[in-house]
Amino acid sequence: MAKSGFKIESKLTLRDGDLLLLTFDGSKPLFKAADLHPEIRPVRSEKRDQSWVTVYAGKLSGKRLLVLATDLKSKDRELVQQMKIAVSKAVACCRREGLRRIQVPLSGNKAIKLSAAVHEGAVLGGHCFDRYLAKKTRIVPVQAVVSQKQLGAARSKARQNAIVFQEVNSGRDLISEPANIATPAFIASTFRKAGKASGLQVTVWDRKRLEKENCGGVLAVGGASSVPPRMVIGRYRPTGKAARHLVLVGKGVSFDTGGYSLKLPSGMGDMKADMAGAAAVFFATCAIARLKLPLKVTVITPLVENAIGQGGFRPGDILKTRSGKTVQVDNTDAEGRLILADALDVAAGMKPDMVLDVATLTGASVVALGLEIAALFSNDSRLASAIIAASAETGEMFWELPLYRPYAKGLRGPTADIRNLAGDRWGGAIVAALFLQNWIPEDLSWAHLDIAGSVFGDKILCHLGPGGKGFGIKTLVEFAGRTAGKK
Ligand code: BES
Ligand code: MN
Ligand code: MN
Repeated sequence: MAKSGFKIESKLTLRDGDLLLLTFDGSKPLFKAADLHPEIRPVRSEKRDQSWVTVYAGKLSGKRLLVLATDLKSKDRELVQQMKIAVSKAVACCRREGLRRIQVPLSGNKAIKLSAAVHEGAVLGGHCFDRYLAKKTRIVPVQAVVSQKQLGAARSKARQNAIVFQEVNSGRDLISEPANIATPAFIASTFRKAGKASGLQVTVWDRKRLEKENCGGVLAVGGASSVPPRMVIGRYRPTGKAARHLVLVGKGVSFDTGGYSLKLPSGMGDMKADMAGAAAVFFATCAIARLKLPLKVTVITPLVENAIGQGGFRPGDILKTRSGKTVQVDNTDAEGRLILADALDVAAGMKPDMVLDVATLTGASVVALGLEIAALFSNDSRLASAIIAASAETGEMFWELPLYRPYAKGLRGPTADIRNLAGDRWGGAIVAALFLQNWIPEDLSWAHLDIAGSVFGDKILCHLGPGGKGFGIKTLVEFAGRTAGKK
């Protein structure tokens, strides 16, 4: 926890250069006014849409302080989400103004939940991908202050969250890493290192092994690249008896040009983030292992670059996937589903209790749900509700879309078992999910998370700054925690 600079204390101690963040739920302070220094008297002034309400700056017994007060009450977001945003803004303010430290006093029955939100606002909200910048961003220490009675519970939650947030930030950095650096081999070795450090057993399939395993989808999509494809398999086995086995599968396209069905130039640079599904499932598994959750987890990530060049696959090609099912390629830009077909077959072969795949699969899901909400599909309504319930806790949003069978009609191919496009672009996220379902046995609980919109962007997303967002990691870990032990 030391590296993040987040701490929870039971006493407010103001130092020179501190920023004191006072938060309100409407007119109700979320801190105990009596705990503040007698010279600080928050006065509420006119509310200006969600911005800071009162600013007190000056000397306090010789100390330079900045006191910011903000109302977290808002109709469009929950209090905890607002807290994450407020803290991330306070961190930015400290960096701008040269302030040293942030103190957030909290009291009342929401204090433990809110201190977790302060933690997230500090560690995820304060994170910046600065590897290639001469000027590095400063870590701003943040302290939440709770009552002595709540200290133990708040700190124990923070110890767990520190692990999750660390893995989220590792995922974000790998997503932000450009494709000239983050090749399939680089991603595989990053996974190997992170996996080993977390206690996973990691196996990497190279091209030869992929050939032996008949992974026709992965080999075709990765065929044009000068950097060969990989498939990484990580295994976490808890020490005690595990009731359940969860398999996580993530799309890992290190860069998606579209192949011969070339993408338009605008926004193509974002396609370095087309491996965000792989990053999400892998780093979530690392967190699950470090938290020692009592369930078996296997993580499978096919890694390829969808490039253009000699050896590239073409529209019209027919591929044989690992299961033996043949696919007619109508469009080389619908590549994610081809590599997932092989990976899902590996997953199903393990006969797990459930499979979750996570992928930046379709632009259609972004059109449908925008940049903050991911699409969820499942053949098991209980699994879908469990994922939604977990996401309500983490603040990541998922919306269930239907696996509407009639839309699969268009996928029937004249020359192969299935085509990778349904003829027109309507309902593209649903069609893609129906395509994947072909590799899922009927009696296997499965969910598909299409996170195309929410994984990356130059814009700030809630409390998360520019670059990779690590979307899905928190929810996968929360889901695994809830599902562990159940039969
Ligand atoms: N990686 C893209 C999907 C995507 C789009 C991710 C926008 C993030 C932002 C995927 O491989 C793709 O190209 N999908 C095509 C499918 C189409 C050809 C059926 C799409 O959505 O346009
Ligand atoms: Mn594509
Ligand atoms: Mn893609």
